[in-house]
Amino acid sequence: MNRETVDIDWSNLPFAYVKTDYNIRFYYKDGKWSDGELVSDEYITMHMAAPCLHYGQEAFEGLKAFETKDGRVVVFRPSENWKRLQKTSERIFLPPMPEEMFLEAIRKVVSANRRFVPPYGTGASLYIRPFLIGVGAKVGLGPASEYIFVIFVTPVGPYYKGGLTPVKAMVITGFDRAAPDGVGDCKVGGNYAAGLPGADYAKHHGYPVPLYLDPKEKRYVDEFGTSNFIGIKGKSYITPSSKSILPSITNMSLAQIAEDMGYKVERRPVDIEEVPSFDEIGAVGTAAVVTPICEINYNGKIMKFGKEDSAGPVISELYKRLTGIQYGEIEDKYNWLFEVK
Ligand code: PLP
Ligand code: COI
Repeated sequence: MNRETVDIDWSNLPFAYVKTDYNIRFYYKDGKWSDGELVSDEYITMHMAAPCLHYGQEAFEGLKAFETKDGRVVVFRPSENWKRLQKTSERIFLPPMPEEMFLEAIRKVVSANRRFVPPYGTGASLYIRPFLIGVGAKVGLGPASEYIFVIFVTPVGPYYKGGLTPVKAMVITGFDRAAPDGVGDCKVGGNYAAGLPGADYAKHHGYPVPLYLDPKEKRYVDEFGTSNFIGIKGKSYITPSSKSILPSITNMSLAQIAEDMGYKVERRPVDIEEVPSFDEIGAVGTAAVVTPICEINYNGKIMKFGKEDSAGPVISELYKRLTGIQYGEIEDKYNWLFEVK
């Protein structure tokens, strides 16, 4: 397609911040949202006593836009991100927003940054990061008086280098990242801060991916640091059900695809002792897409899955079908793509 794009080495993009042309901002005051404002400023000015800075009254989302084979720009399932943001907002007393406001904001910010949407065929995408923060001065614990909702975008490549190249994971036993009756199933910044020591520990032991067990019994698999866990066993697609994991939109979509491939989807507690019996393991999420896991280190016990240099057949097919839909190569029969003109 003939359209102006910026001069970027699209095929070698890391998962990192790139300055784009605009971000979009909305302000909430006296019970009302302002209209969205497209700005080029990368900085936000707020009062030093803003509750998002001290008490973590903050939520974020992550989704992606793609250029399709026929030159359209599409966003993958943004209504699901809106729904999840509403759930997080309810949990930590952030103000709700209408679905149309969220979708229109995405449409505007992607459209305004169209020259940063990676061209079809490069394997890259435009990562979209909405976030909602409590601002205004407040020292006692309580919800903020004012809020700011921002969406910025940044072109990205694969989260783990190499896309479908298998990576190794380590079970983290010394730290929890999320609490089951806390905000474990919400997308709030605090869960990610709590995940920093686990991620650091795994990395220093040669494992790029931390894997968490349920915080209560330390027996059942929860999820990876930034993605859900899926296991393939025979004709089953198995993924943990737990109150301390983020309900992943990618996982939900892959489960549908797996069903279409004739797999039985099992959402249930997964005992870590059962994991060695799985044929293939994947780490799934917006950033991770479908990353094959070839090894899991559990307290020094090494579990191996498939080859170290290539993904197994089911994970490969899931990846192919999901990205095929996202890049407009395969029919979008569930209407997952939201077109931005
Ligand atoms: N789990 C965690 C902790 C995440 O940060 C993410 C990323 O958003 C996911 C799972 C995957 O969720 P989704 O597929 O909606 O991006
Ligand atoms: C995402 O996949 O959107 C995430 O939020 C992961 C992020 C921590 C990089």
